[in-house]
Amino acid sequence: MAYETILVETRGKVGLVTLNRPQALNALNSQLIGELNQALDAFEKDPGIGAIVITGSEKAFAAGADIKEMQSLTYPETYLEDFITSWDRVASRRKPLIAAVAGFALGGGCELAMMCDIIIAADTAKFGQPEIKLGVMPGAGGTQRLTRIIGKAKAMELCLTGRLMGAEEAERAGLVARVVPAAELLEDALKTAATIADMSLPIVMMAKESINRAYETTLAEGIRFERRLFHAMFATADQKEGMAAFVDKRKADFKNR
Ligand code: HXC
Repeated sequence: MAYETILVETRGKVGLVTLNRPQALNALNSQLIGELNQALDAFEKDPGIGAIVITGSEKAFAAGADIKEMQSLTYPETYLEDFITSWDRVASRRKPLIAAVAGFALGGGCELAMMCDIIIAADTAKFGQPEIKLGVMPGAGGTQRLTRIIGKAKAMELCLTGRLMGAEEAERAGLVARVVPAAELLEDALKTAATIADMSLPIVMMAKESINRAYETTLAEGIRFERRLFHAMFATADQKEGMAAFVDKRKADFKNR
């Protein structure tokens, strides 16, 4: 598959997508989102892939939705084309997604990172929702995901002022899992992804689904959902293998069944 706005590779059991519009700091235009979704479709279908890393450049993960593409859109066009809704397909992926973020992750770039399951940040990362300065607000989940992740006070301040937040602050706020030196970002994210990809894929997918439930439902419902999936895991060969490997003092060899 020939892509123009992204680079796609596999590293063992890990799929790697590099956003690649350097001239526009990886601004997310409709072509890029379309290609990203195609690449993710292919990785999701590939039984050999257990985790996916999305990254950008040293300077920018992504500086937002493409302002030049959006500039002249009219309301009927946004409504008829259901502008932005195709981005949601990134958030509904079932395999784990890791965002490896260096430099700017602004507007739609921050929203794209938040659609991933884990954000690993370089110490150079800068997160923000500066849409307010353009006369709009976040439109790809920013007002919702950021608020749930870092809380109302900080989300409100970031979205209403457009202030950018550095990697350390983002880690303290709970937005990023870990901050690493910029030179080690990709290696670290790939290693994390490889660790996940070595686990049982169906069990990883169930754990992801269960954690995401915590955002969507009450505690009692979430606990019930978790319990149902937890019980179901005892029907898998991988549960037998994982526990037998512990007892035998060897590394588990999961077969994804
Ligand atoms: C289109 C963009 C862009 C964007 C940067 N560029 N961000 N093009 N859309 N979001 C382009 C610039 O126009 C410029 O192209 C080139 O990339 C380099 O950018 P510079 O501004 O020259 O770089 P620098 O001075 O280093 O400043 C970096 C920056 C700044 C602080 C990140 O580019 C910036 O403020 N960008 C916009 C950030 C933003 O507002 N994001 C939110 C977008 S709205 P030329 O051709 O001039 O060289 C959004 C809505 C989400 O995301 C809701 C729906 C998803």
